[in-house]
Amino acid sequence: MIKYILTIIAIIGIFSCQNTSHPVSDEDNGVVLPLGFPPLPINLDNPLTKVSIELGRKLFYDTILSNGGISCASCHKQRFAFSDGGNHVSFGFQGRSTTRNALSIVNVAYYENYNWDGKFHGSNAIEEIVKTVVHLPFEFNCDSNTVNERLRKHPEYPKLIKNAYGESAEPNLKYAAKAIANFVRSIISGNSRYDKFVKGDTAALNESEKRGLRLFFSDRTKCSECHSGHLFTDNKFHSTGITTHYFDRGRFLVTDENEDRGKFRTPTLRNIALTAPYMHNGEILTLEEIMQHYNNGGKIFINKDKRMKPLGLSQEEIKDLINFLHALTDEDLIKNPKYSKPL
Ligand code: HEC
Ligand code: HEC
Repeated sequence: MIKYILTIIAIIGIFSCQNTSHPVSDEDNGVVLPLGFPPLPINLDNPLTKVSIELGRKLFYDTILSNGGISCASCHKQRFAFSDGGNHVSFGFQGRSTTRNALSIVNVAYYENYNWDGKFHGSNAIEEIVKTVVHLPFEFNCDSNTVNERLRKHPEYPKLIKNAYGESAEPNLKYAAKAIANFVRSIISGNSRYDKFVKGDTAALNESEKRGLRLFFSDRTKCSECHSGHLFTDNKFHSTGITTHYFDRGRFLVTDENEDRGKFRTPTLRNIALTAPYMHNGEILTLEEIMQHYNNGGKIFINKDKRMKPLGLSQEEIKDLINFLHALTDEDLIKNPKYSKPL
């Protein structure tokens, strides 16, 4: 009898652990995942916890890691889906400019390759990016000794770092980078009208947007072969022939392979209506111009992807595609106080 009861309890236990009803909220980190999003990858070096995310949020908006009074949020702004809306390239220490358009940092917890050229990759890539930003002369133009000193003297950070990473954790750049990386990992976007449509709300898209959706996922345009999956990116490198001569050699800078010249990592298209201007150098200003570029099949360039061919889309079809791209905007992301500057 007792054995029988234990078996029942065990079965109930298994079922409650396997409960996959969505949205998923992990008790420990408070990150809510939209339907269709797989569990976040686990970084054993830096577990995603509520306290580390909260600390990271404070640091993300703080100028303490920089010289010249800038923060991560100077270039990754919530209202532009954490891109640097309006700026072709971004401006860091004393107005010095970056060489590329600031990427929108949503759903990046799922990525393998980071930056337009994949310079950073693997499970600690975001921590590495933070440390690099601190040192780059055209971003924070600072150094770890200065940062460590400032954190040590700060009235709150020494305690917050210990709360997040344990009693032995010293207030230094290493832990600041871990916490910021975890805040960045917590920025999830998947509640656009497109997502609502996919979940079964057929009224979430109008007829033009539905036609655009079909074109986007069609064999004719092949948009979804590169801008694929729930992230709208394959996280791989391609040249779309936006120019006949790439000043920025892209993936080549990482691999030194000629076949990688002019290739850039496919950017996500989530919230694309909020993140103009476009492409790695921000040279394309509008979605209309983007569609012209694809409809023409791109310029002549040796490494241009084979799929880049004239598409023969009518003006009406172009409009439908653009309307579909607008339906990828997630209003919750830009309003969510969880991602805003803490009070
Ligand atoms: C001066 C502007 C600027 C500042 C400040 C800045 N970034 Fe960025 N960020 C960029 C640019 C530009 C890129 C694209 C770089 C590239 O591809 O070479 C980028 C890329 C990234 C990426 C990679 C995204 C992807 O899709 O691969 C992450 C993550 C990121 N930044 C996080 C941060 C964090 C965290 C901070 C604060 C520590 C920060 N950034 C500060 C401009 C900035
Ligand atoms: C061969 C892969 C591939 C295909 C097919 C493709 N794209 Fe892209 N897309 C990319 C890459 C790579 C970039 C970035 C190129 C660069 O910056 O040089 C990009 C950039 C974009 C951008 C600008 C994103 C930003 O944040 O700057 C938009 C919008 C876009 N694509 C839409 C589309 C649409 C719509 C289609 C179908 C008509 C399409 N793409 C087909 C790979 C592809």
